[in-house]
Amino acid sequence: MFKRIVPNDGEMVTLKVEDQPVTVPAGDSVAAAVYAAGFNHFRESSISNRPRAPYCMMGVCFECLVEIDGSPNHQACMTTVRDGMSIRIQKGLRGVES
Ligand code: FES
Repeated sequence: MFKRIVPNDGEMVTLKVEDQPVTVPAGDSVAAAVYAAGFNHFRESSISNRPRAPYCMMGVCFECLVEIDGSPNHQACMTTVRDGMSIRIQKGLRGVES
């Protein structure tokens, strides 16, 4: 379904999505990494707990919110992967961090 359009220089990073290791090209977005790990939804809505997935992939819709290293509400499409990152599917309503 998805095809890489910009080749990378070969540098790879390894991170975890729901404790599942995945290795992706450096420079990829977290959204690309979550898809590469085989997940088809990134969060569950705060009202109905229905699965949600990225829509715009450019920082507008906020459908791609995930938890990164224990911190909620990160836009997966606007965040670049880094080695050792831990990503979790966001479930339900999250608070606002100060
Ligand atoms: S997919 Fe729309 S903000 Fe990330």
